[in-house]
Amino acid sequence: MKIISISNNKGGVGKTTLTVNLAFELIRRGYVVLLVDLDDQCDLTKIYRPPGDVTPDILSLLQGRCAITDAHVEVADNLHLVPGSSDLFHFGFTQNERILLELFSDKEFEDVDFVLIDHPPNLNEAALVGYTASDEVLIVTDPEAFGVQNLDQMFDRLEQIKDAMNPSLHILGIVVNKVDLRRNLTSKMLKDLSSVLGDTLFSTWNSNDTAIPTSLYAGKPVRTLHWRSRTVDQFSKITEELLERMGYLNGYGETAAE
Ligand SMILES: Nc1ncnc2c1ncn2[C@@H]1O[C@H](COP(=O)(O)OP(=O)(O)OP(=O)(O)O)[C@@H](O)[C@H]1O
Ligand SMILES: [Mg+2]
Repeated sequence: MKIISISNNKGGVGKTTLTVNLAFELIRRGYVVLLVDLDDQCDLTKIYRPPGDVTPDILSLLQGRCAITDAHVEVADNLHLVPGSSDLFHFGFTQNERILLELFSDKEFEDVDFVLIDHPPNLNEAALVGYTASDEVLIVTDPEAFGVQNLDQMFDRLEQIKDAMNPSLHILGIVVNKVDLRRNLTSKMLKDLSSVLGDTLFSTWNSNDTAIPTSLYAGKPVRTLHWRSRTVDQFSKITEELLERMGYLNGYGETAAE
């Protein structure tokens, strides 16, 4: 099992969008994915939670008010969700920063290949618990001034978290989202990011495309829309790159046997 935090302390850059589409690409490739909504806005939960579902949310799970077996719902074949909670701030995280890690190591999740944690747009206590549980951090940003400047703050904070709580936490890379090459500033920012970040930057970025808000409104990954968006191929390439970076691909575009 690999646990991946999908994060940025900046809001609205596309964390939830990437989580939804990455999860779909991974299950298409035969992996079992567990989604965890660690954002008290609960956007991921709004997309996936079946109407009338009564699965306890992450707050109940963290508080031990439900069994681990009851705390996730299968929202599609091989895709599970631990629903978010708008009251998550009620949990005193500092009592046990390793709590999520302990829960993921339960045998209930032994078939899960990837846990994708959709982070809140800040570095609050819930986010710290997410980073403490994670093997990898996948940062999403947009090609805007504040998005780029915020990266420094993210890197500093992640270094502190590594030192204090999770020495093996690894930055998997940075995906740039909402790219519109018709804007001169965007091309310049992509060049600047690439020269500063080098290989940390994923080689595929995501276009700014109306298919994304349309698909989220329909509660679906973009690949399942009836029209073809170029972001479908981009999400696929980002997934391949992610798998390759984690050593899952054999160089021929096939998933290596584990
Ligand atoms: N590539 C894209 N092209 C066009 N719109 C996009 C793209 N990616 C995301 N969006 C839109 O941007 C908005 C924010 O996306 P999303 O909710 O995924 O960001 P987020 O980082 O999870 O936000 P938050 O910080 O609030 O959790 C949504 O309305 C979404 O439809
Ligand atoms: Mg979000």
